[in-house]
Amino acid sequence: MNTTTPKTRYEIAVVEGDGIGPEVCQAGLKVIQTALGDSGKLNFKEYRAGAELWKETGVSFPDETFAACRDADAVFHGAAGLPTVTAADGTEPGLDFGLQLRFRLDLYANIRPIKLHPGVTSVLRDYEPGQIDYVILRENTEGFYAARGGGNIVRGKIASDTSIITREGTERIVRRAFELSRSRNGAPRDGKRRVTVCDKANVLRSYAFFRAVAKEVAADYPDIELDFALIDAMTVHLVKRPDFYDVIVTENMFGDIISDLGAATVGGMGMSPTAEVGDHNGFFQAAHGSAPDIAGQGIANPIGTILSGGLMLTWLGERHRDNALIDAGARIDRAVGKVIENPNLLPGDLGGTATSAKITDAVCEALAA
Ligand code: IPM
Ligand code: MN
Repeated sequence: MNTTTPKTRYEIAVVEGDGIGPEVCQAGLKVIQTALGDSGKLNFKEYRAGAELWKETGVSFPDETFAACRDADAVFHGAAGLPTVTAADGTEPGLDFGLQLRFRLDLYANIRPIKLHPGVTSVLRDYEPGQIDYVILRENTEGFYAARGGGNIVRGKIASDTSIITREGTERIVRRAFELSRSRNGAPRDGKRRVTVCDKANVLRSYAFFRAVAKEVAADYPDIELDFALIDAMTVHLVKRPDFYDVIVTENMFGDIISDLGAATVGGMGMSPTAEVGDHNGFFQAAHGSAPDIAGQGIANPIGTILSGGLMLTWLGERHRDNALIDAGARIDRAVGKVIENPNLLPGDLGGTATSAKITDAVCEALAA
């Protein structure tokens, strides 16, 4: 939504989080600042949330952090949660930051580009850079996730969480998928603009409803091909014919699962950025978790977070009609492309040995060039 005119200053709420969160967050901030030069356009302020904070204080997402995120122009995040830090019910309180933010700021669109960058060898041996380039649009506020904290265990024998799908929630995410497809160049395989609705309509009524509502919305977009896939078949298609896809729109948990699968085909979770946006707020973080096993070693792949920084600048720029930000976002994307092409600058998860700092500095140098 292009709601306002350029601002002289944008307030960014920053939450580093847990595990590798602080490292990748700082890498992303360094690149963003380099891309914007001395313009002073973005003002970063750090707030706390996550599993470490919960261990210290019993609160994982303080009111002060929420208020700052709500009032900021955008929120930038490293990663939160620690698998060893669990509440009495077995779930991770550290995840509340991201999850609550989605609900409370109505960040209904979780946009996950899956793109094979030059220099990255896909596990899918038949695909070259340019041949995998689609976006997963994950509905971000409904489905089973909407039940978080509200599930029931009865007599130690029966557990239930209820999935929610609404007409309004489905209409707006599907509409967004068509708009997104219009702004892109179509699927790599045939250049066709295509929206694939991914569900389990053959088994559950709520998914059949999702599909029916999607069909209604599609009537407004006759220029774009409408395609359907069941979620189980989709896991096969994303491996066997990823070049067929342009925009995939799906329910919350299905989107969570296939975005990891998609990431695995373009180098892994470390390469995967995310924009989670509503009509008023935007939240930017890599799709990966906090990877506590490699935290503090300086070897985490910072690219997912750096690319998320690029998405943040693009989103802010489009929203405020601020060309300097749009340009900086595009330059971050190109700079990452140049860096990854150099085998000496590949991170460990892509088979290289470059440290986070080396990669981050190289992206900054490529930006300056
Ligand atoms: C993601 C993550 C989150 C999710 C976790 C950290 C709560 O896996 O953003 O994909 O499940 O949505
Ligand atoms: Mn996930």
